[in-house]
Amino acid sequence: MEVKKIKIFDTTLRDGEQSPGCSMNLKEKIEMAKQLERMHVDVIEAGFAISSQGDFISVKTIAETVKNCTVASLARASEKDIDRAWEAVKEAVDPRIHLFLATSPLHMEYKLHMQPDDVYEMAVAMTARAAKYCSNIEFSAEDATRSNWKFLAKVIEGVIAAGASTVNLPDTVGYTTPDEHYAFFMRMREMAPSLEKVTISSHCHNDLGLGVANSLAAVRAGVTQVECTVNGIGERAGNAAMEEIVMALYTRRDYYQAESNIVTSEIVHSSNLLTRITGVKVQPNKAIVGENAFAHEAGIHQHGVLQNRATYEIMTPESVGLNKNNLVLGKHSGKHAFKDRVNSLGYDLDETELEIAFEKFKSLADKKKTVYDRDIEALVAKEAVQVPRTYRLNSFVINSGNTITSTAVIKMTRDEKIIEKVSRGEGPIDAAFKAIEKIVGCELTLEDYQIGSVTEGEDALGDALVKIKTAGGTVFSGRGLSTDVIEASIHAYVNAVNKMIYTEKEGFTTVRIESI
Ligand code: KIV
Ligand code: ZN
Repeated sequence: MEVKKIKIFDTTLRDGEQSPGCSMNLKEKIEMAKQLERMHVDVIEAGFAISSQGDFISVKTIAETVKNCTVASLARASEKDIDRAWEAVKEAVDPRIHLFLATSPLHMEYKLHMQPDDVYEMAVAMTARAAKYCSNIEFSAEDATRSNWKFLAKVIEGVIAAGASTVNLPDTVGYTTPDEHYAFFMRMREMAPSLEKVTISSHCHNDLGLGVANSLAAVRAGVTQVECTVNGIGERAGNAAMEEIVMALYTRRDYYQAESNIVTSEIVHSSNLLTRITGVKVQPNKAIVGENAFAHEAGIHQHGVLQNRATYEIMTPESVGLNKNNLVLGKHSGKHAFKDRVNSLGYDLDETELEIAFEKFKSLADKKKTVYDRDIEALVAKEAVQVPRTYRLNSFVINSGNTITSTAVIKMTRDEKIIEKVSRGEGPIDAAFKAIEKIVGCELTLEDYQIGSVTEGEDALGDALVKIKTAGGTVFSGRGLSTDVIEASIHAYVNAVNKMIYTEKEGFTTVRIESI
């Protein structure tokens, strides 16, 4: 039997980024896009060009940077949106305009305030407009799974005749079930026979936890593109998780008779990079990329795995790029060895970034007996997405104990000027954060604070995550690394502040689709 190719359309940078707490700045989006390219994603949806100046610039920069994937921008079915989307993607090697319009009775009546006939006309006219710009046009019938099938088939036929080369039928609110989704695509293929001439796509949300199952049912029903996000991030309960779809196709190729182009050994790296950028961790038991996905705690399982891994392991950790704790470099390692290691971990730092990362590695190697890949990855990932350091930490002194009020003295530099502030607080971290807030001089709320370690062991590198909220309600996250957890926490806070300054300066505040 012939094995079918399934295109992976990644929307981490658009649908994923739209979820609260997952917004990314330009540097982070470019780094993520480069990683998606490295893992051989077929289509990168880089953003929604008209939604903000920041989104426009990031779609444009990604379109100009990525060479081996199609780069798409989302657009509503309106002239302005389509023109802006084209402006953003036109320099891509393979640009795509992805326009969408809702087709369900509920959305047409209450959101669009339009009659079905007008929706049909608009879908066809706007597809034709987009098709004047390029041949790679995707049309999405938003809320397709709750649409009237006859009407949907008519829209599908219309947009294909107008030039759509991909037709996407999203389960926008994660309402469908696998059996139903299979039947839906089978029936649509009968009712709209022109679908056979184009790429048929599925886009599933995860409100009932069925996003991946529904996507796989769609593959069985003949779709040749699935839309998904790394770690399943996305609005509400998220989108179908890319790593789960890809590994289901890989592990159960016998059943699906289908495969993707994804380099599966890049999966863990992509997941970790996204977690580092957004500060949103995956649950430990998350399939494929959770911390416990390949852990065999029970004695009986360990025994089985030692005899033959296949007893309890349906795929190898190596197949998803999980190399547990391999010991790499030490304090005597030189810059060349470090650079090689960094490159093999999938990072491509420029000279300055490499220099900074190498200095950090050296000072870590002085403090820590063993430096693992995961330590290096954490250092380098942080450097790769480092925004300009408007504020730099010079020094800190903390006075704390269980019988005194904690005080912190923090000294930082901004534009060559040293600023020093003192603050009291409920414990050393609170005192330090309050002192930084005084230096920055604006009201910030601590939204989240987490401290973990990059690897196990007494001398492990502390990894702090700080999320701050501005008076306007925007949340920025920052990470900090140090073998001293207080220092890691201070760095994390300073990084969040620097991101806030960079993001506001570049106009990157993301606007959600509904509010445009
Ligand atoms: O969920 C959805 O319907 C979407 C479309 C805009 C493709 O994200
Ligand atoms: Zn969606």
